[in-house]
Amino acid sequence: MNLLEIKNLNLGFNLSDGYKQVINDVNISLKKGDMLAVVGESGCGKTLTAMSILNLLPEKSEIKSGQILFKDEDLLKKTDIQMQKIRGKNIALIPQDPMTALNPLYTIENQLLEVIKLHQPDEKNPKEIAIKALESVKIPNAKDRLKSYPHELSGGMKQRIIIAMALACNADLIIADEPTTALDVTVQEQIMKLLNQIKKERKTSIILITHDLGLVAENADYVAVMYAGNIVEYSSRDSLFKNPLHPYTKALFKSLPDMNSDKLVPINGQPPTINEKIEGCPFHPRCSKAFDKCIKDKPNLKKIEEEFCACWLY
Ligand SMILES: Nc1ncnc2c1ncn2[C@@H]1O[C@H](COP(=O)(O)OP(=O)(O)O)[C@@H](O)[C@H]1O
Ligand SMILES: [Mg+2]
Repeated sequence: MNLLEIKNLNLGFNLSDGYKQVINDVNISLKKGDMLAVVGESGCGKTLTAMSILNLLPEKSEIKSGQILFKDEDLLKKTDIQMQKIRGKNIALIPQDPMTALNPLYTIENQLLEVIKLHQPDEKNPKEIAIKALESVKIPNAKDRLKSYPHELSGGMKQRIIIAMALACNADLIIADEPTTALDVTVQEQIMKLLNQIKKERKTSIILITHDLGLVAENADYVAVMYAGNIVEYSSRDSLFKNPLHPYTKALFKSLPDMNSDKLVPINGQPPTINEKIEGCPFHPRCSKAFDKCIKDKPNLKKIEEEFCACWLY
């Protein structure tokens, strides 16, 4: 059984000039203990897909159709109160900016104990659990740290505390939305190492959202490449790195800084905005391989050997 299964998710915004679709028929499945990376440039629909799982969507957005099955139950049918319980207890979010997840007015102890008490009300020694959680994310002097306010801590330290909160409530699924984008490279590595360790030791499933294929290389089991609200390639990390199929995935690889060469080829142009009407393959205006069919018809995801790819070249 899959822990999470998103089926045919369609989502858009009701704007002054009508409904604009931004997530198109997205399908995702995730097993216990696996890490799925969702990759794509900014504006491709990664965050909205993740926020649909948590039912934390922006104003004016509307899920037109689809199912989000978590342990076989459709999250889209849950009430706000039911979702509140699921958030934090079963599904934890690590956001890009840790400041938005920590309350600046309360100490780390206050905030950690609140989650622990909420999710383990029978726990006799919640403070002990809080200290253990901080230690397991390698925060030095955990006992003293409990007394700190968020502003007294570095970005990397705050991100660790949010991960500690996810651990303290034993989440089955962690959604990490560009968790290291705001951090410098060495801290980035430490945080990724930590997520990997949690995945291995606790069999926590992780959705890692990133625009950086480099992060995916070491960490993910599966990768979904998103473009303009569509999954255009879906495969195991190994086959994606061995043999990327979609021209967009290939372009993402070429735009990565490479240690062995100083050639860095940025992708020309930008992903379409919400107001652009897209006909055919959404990537065709930027694709060097595009031909007549790509301009007229939109390709669906199709199984090609071990991978899934939405491209008329295959
Ligand atoms: N609050 C909003 N109002 C209108 N459109 C939005 C809003 N949030 C996101 N969008 C649209 O949805 C697209 C996908 O957004 P998002 O999921 O945040 O992308 P990503 O996380 O991949 O950068 C954006 O390009 C934008 O067009
Ligand atoms: Mg985003």
